[in-house]
Amino acid sequence: MNSNTIFRKAKFILSQLSMRSYYKMTTKSGVVDFRSDTVTQPSPDMRQAMMKAAVGDDVYKEDPTVNELEKFCADLFGMEKALYVPSGTMGNLLCLMAHVNGRGEEIIIGAKQHVYCYEQGGFMQLGSIPARVLPNECNGTISLKDIEENITDKSDFHFCETKLICLENTHLLSGGTPLPLDYLKNVTDLKQKYNLKVHVDGARLYNAAVALNEPVQSLLKNIDSVSMCLSKGLGCPVGSVIGGTEEFIKRAIRLRKCLGGGIRQGGILAAAGLFALKDAREKLKIDHINARLLAEGIYELKLPSVTVDLTKVQTNIVFVKTPNGAAKTIADALSKHLILSSPFSSSILRFVTHLNICQDDVFRCVEVFKQVFKENCLL
Ligand SMILES: Cc1ncc(COP(=O)(O)O)c(C=O)c1O
Repeated sequence: MNSNTIFRKAKFILSQLSMRSYYKMTTKSGVVDFRSDTVTQPSPDMRQAMMKAAVGDDVYKEDPTVNELEKFCADLFGMEKALYVPSGTMGNLLCLMAHVNGRGEEIIIGAKQHVYCYEQGGFMQLGSIPARVLPNECNGTISLKDIEENITDKSDFHFCETKLICLENTHLLSGGTPLPLDYLKNVTDLKQKYNLKVHVDGARLYNAAVALNEPVQSLLKNIDSVSMCLSKGLGCPVGSVIGGTEEFIKRAIRLRKCLGGGIRQGGILAAAGLFALKDAREKLKIDHINARLLAEGIYELKLPSVTVDLTKVQTNIVFVKTPNGAAKTIADALSKHLILSSPFSSSILRFVTHLNICQDDVFRCVEVFKQVFKENCLL
């Protein structure tokens, strides 16, 4: 399919989804920021919802808006209880510490997961939790064989005792790929066989649900805990929600207090979450279409040594492989044209679509990408 056909097709799909212009908020400077889905600006309507929120002291559990958000998310997850926390990092840390609280208990985690790579190893620093760190496959999974081989023999006192398997859905470093449902079923079968727990870092869990066209809770079947960010694709200024059993959330509340994560009149922030969750599915669908459009647009330029693995573009993240060592040069050149991207390694550029990016921004980015190649003699 040539780029014109792709663009026409995307235009048609987007015209069916009427909301994008409503959510588009071009910055005054005209910068289009593809660096991350954390850069979104709250829309005027979200700000209105925050302003009107009824509040109370959430550390006493008296904030009606936080309570409403937690109830909404517990139902969304299909779990007994949910808890509002300040960030995804804290959500993951609380979950790991609430599950693994005995000396000599350890977790299994992927080497390319956010909890391991980008959260300062908080579970090790603050939770004294050792980890078996296993490779992530190119779709973000950890192989079942690796997991099973690394579950320790409880009767052998040479080893820590395996307590938890930690997964990430969608998996950021493999390009925002959703974990397949049958894989999740296999992991939860394993955990039942060995009497373990499974935690999902679901910073972008809703994106996974949209990509797989499944309800969020079907991605959490037999999963023991989840941490889902409101401040990524869902577009809130702050906050994450964790889910689990009532007993588990009680432990997490104690730990949250210890980490200083109790927010008093948190309803002002929780209101943004409730607002965002109302039509999350429709909004994220548009982000995914925009990411696909961007990936196909750049792919179709057929620039030398530029590759995009289209099979990986399933949600809102696009990794573009550039000529060796050129990622930073290209990112700098794009930024001169007011397009921001993230050089992820010396040769990989990352683009993330979100609420404040519309179809025209995507078209502009593709055009500018080509122009930058000419300007920098990369053609
Ligand atoms: C996959 C994943 N997990 C967890 C987090 C942590 O979220 P926060 O920045 O809210 O601490 C991020 C942040 O980008 C993430 O991408």
